[in-house]
Formats: sequence, structure tokens, C-alpha cells
Amino acid sequence: MRPLIAGNWKMHGLAQQLGEIGAVATAVETTAPSADILICLPATLIDRAAQIVRGRIAIGGEDCSAEEAGAFTGDISVEMLKDAGASAVIVGHSERRHYHGETDAIVSAKAKAASRAGLLTIICIGETKSQRAHNETLSVCDAQLAGSMPDGMTLTATAIAHEPLWAIGTGQIPTSEEIVAVHARIRRRLLARFGEDGRLVRILYGGSIKPDNAHEILALPEVDGGLIGGASLLACDFEAIIRTVSAGH
Ligand code: 13P
Repeated sequence: MRPLIAGNWKMHGLAQQLGEIGAVATAVETTAPSADILICLPATLIDRAAQIVRGRIAIGGEDCSAEEAGAFTGDISVEMLKDAGASAVIVGHSERRHYHGETDAIVSAKAKAASRAGLLTIICIGETKSQRAHNETLSVCDAQLAGSMPDGMTLTATAIAHEPLWAIGTGQIPTSEEIVAVHARIRRRLLARFGEDGRLVRILYGGSIKPDNAHEILALPEVDGGLIGGASLLACDFEAIIRTVSAGH
């Protein structure tokens, strides 16, 4: 499976940072890595970023509404994201779940809207530190996967991102064995639900991926790419991560 290396800028980035996106697009054009490259951006930057990259890398949103249109002040529909030049969107990021009270049902509705619009959809799941300490990681991820991924998704355009909450922005990462155990479990659940087609879904790891640990993490079994926060903000870091995939596959 062709890996997906996705950046998530979160609430970072003004026009003056668009040069970083241009630099990544140029590097990808020159080196033709054996991975799909995506940068998910604040909605305000999507249109300009899409014009800069001209299809050399994909541009995505960080969230979307489940609704097509209507009286939902401040929300952004999948059609609006597409119109601005996005071809992908993240749904259910733990920061959306935590700060905006998004439940599995809300995430599932958003994923359904994104898939219906033909966007590559990254559905995030992940356990807290205390859930891991209480040996609940697999059951929590099972429940979030079942509840956040609706029926009828285009499986080749769906990725599940396993992002342990305690690994996001902390510099702490699970051991390789811990990552493999969760990803193998997610794959088993996908196979149980979709039969062999469950292999079409990419399973990403996210949480403190940096240039110096990317190679080891991204080469693990059932790790089909990464969702990268802080290290996607600077082209030099993100390019270094992309290079580790090219070297490893
Ligand atoms: P960091 O890479 O900064 O830990 O963020 C991970 C993340 O939340 C990506 O969605």
C-alpha cells in the first residue's frame, strides 16, 4: 500500500508561512517520493496553498461540517473545502473531540459527508494516558473505530489515524511493539467488518513523529503512513520525514 504522509498545521499559519508549503511541493516534485503527500491546513490558507502547489501535493482541511449548507455560523461544509481546493479532510481529531465535545456519532456524520463529497477522509482515534495505564487502549480504539467510521465509506479514500492523546505534542511515543499491537488490532477490526476490502484502508500513526524517529515508526507493520503536527510546519522537517519513507519502502 502506498503510504500517506499527512501534515496537520492545526491553528498555525498565516500567509507568510505559505512559502513552507511551496518548498514541500517543489521538493516532492523533484524527488517523487513513494508516498502520497498531504498537508491539512486552516481553512483560511487552503485556497492560496492549493494555487501554490498546483496538484504536486494534496491540500486538506482539518475539520468539516456534516451539513451541506444552511444556518450554521462559522462552520465549513465539505463542498466549501473542495471549492477552495482541498481534496482531503481530517475528522475527529482528539482536539476537536476534547475542545468541541465531538462524539463518535458527530465524527461519523462528518466522515460520511466527506466521503460522499469524494474527499480523502482521515478519521482520528486514540486513547488517553489513563486509558493506556488501565489496559483499555484496544477496547477504546475498537469503540471509537466502530462509532466514528460510518458504513458506505470509499475504503481506498479512507484512513484511520491512531493518535495516542498522550503522544500528541509531548515528544513521548509508544514503543514499536505498542504501535504494532494497536495497528494490528485496527486492521483485524477492519477485516472483520469489511472482509478483505478492510485491507484497502490506510492506518496512520500520529503523535510526536519527528525526522529522527520517523523511519522506525513508518516502517512498522500495518503503519501505512503518518499524521504529523509540529514537524509539518517547517518544510525542512516535513521533507526530512518524507525522505525517510522514500528510503524505507
Ligand atoms: P504532533 O506531531 O505535534 O505530536 O501532533 C500530532 C497530531 O495531533 C497530528 O494530528
